[in-house]
Amino acid sequence: MKRINIPLVGSFGVDSDETILEAGLRASFSFPAACRNGVCERCQGTLLKGSVHIARKDHTIHAGETDSTRVLYCLAHALTDCEISVPDIRAPGELPVHEVTCQITEITPLSDDVSRVMLRLPAGKVPRWHAGQYLELLFPFGDCAFSIANAPSGRDLELHVRYHHENSSSLDVIAALQNDSLVKVRLPGGTRHLAALPERPIWLICGSTGFAPIKAMLEHLRNEHFRLPIHLYWGARTQTDMYLADAAKALDAELPNLKYIPALSEEKRDDFFFGLIHEAVLKDLHTPAEPIFYVGGSPPMAWAVFDALVGAGVPAEHIHSDVYDYAPRAE
Ligand code: FES
Repeated sequence: MKRINIPLVGSFGVDSDETILEAGLRASFSFPAACRNGVCERCQGTLLKGSVHIARKDHTIHAGETDSTRVLYCLAHALTDCEISVPDIRAPGELPVHEVTCQITEITPLSDDVSRVMLRLPAGKVPRWHAGQYLELLFPFGDCAFSIANAPSGRDLELHVRYHHENSSSLDVIAALQNDSLVKVRLPGGTRHLAALPERPIWLICGSTGFAPIKAMLEHLRNEHFRLPIHLYWGARTQTDMYLADAAKALDAELPNLKYIPALSEEKRDDFFFGLIHEAVLKDLHTPAEPIFYVGGSPPMAWAVFDALVGAGVPAEHIHSDVYDYAPRAE
């Protein structure tokens, strides 16, 4: 079996007796296709690496050749592992991206520097998203990504927006939201999500407003009656940085299978782990290969968690965060 990799989308295996399109569809990719016999050209893409054989024409195409930019994957058999690109292809569970204009229905301060912003999607065909995904606010001065902090249902979207006087772009964002009643939004985005519920314990690890997507995932797990063990680790510098501590406690009460460990790195308090969040996680981690991990927070925090988990024996493919895609570690 050969392997087909689609950068930033995913990969699947292909047998020698099937076309790349057939294998992609078998692996549940949304592969654009109609005729499946080389007429409509909907499955056309570029061969980035490797070689394919077009059986009907008894013709072999190698990556980099002139005709490698017009490969019809309904006719192509992989001769080697390949890397391909196909416009509009989506991975299993990946939802179509929409741009819509939302109403800004509420802005509520949750702490000195975090506000809850509620948006309402337009009526009609409401875009779908998976718990844990993000959206982008499309401002004239640039696009800004925020995790969606509520589980998918209905037309309302909850965001946790942090702003600080030392970060002028964060002040531009909150001012733009406060001064308008509508905002253009692109959604959904991100691969850290619960499109399907895992059949293993879930450990959720977050810092600061990284709690937003984790809250959405916990609400979804509650709504779906997920029964396997869940661990929640929320880390902050001080207790006042935990801007929605009551929400975390409420979810803890609603989910009997949830173990909640809040951690403070600069303040010693009863009922809180004292130290960095990955230290709290490692203290409890006795079977590193068993859980699946979802991480929300800044790039330094997410990479520190990644390093600590992998160092403790967690398989890297069990650790999920969009940070690893949008802020890859410098080589
Ligand atoms: S599906 Fe029509 S050309 Fe491939």
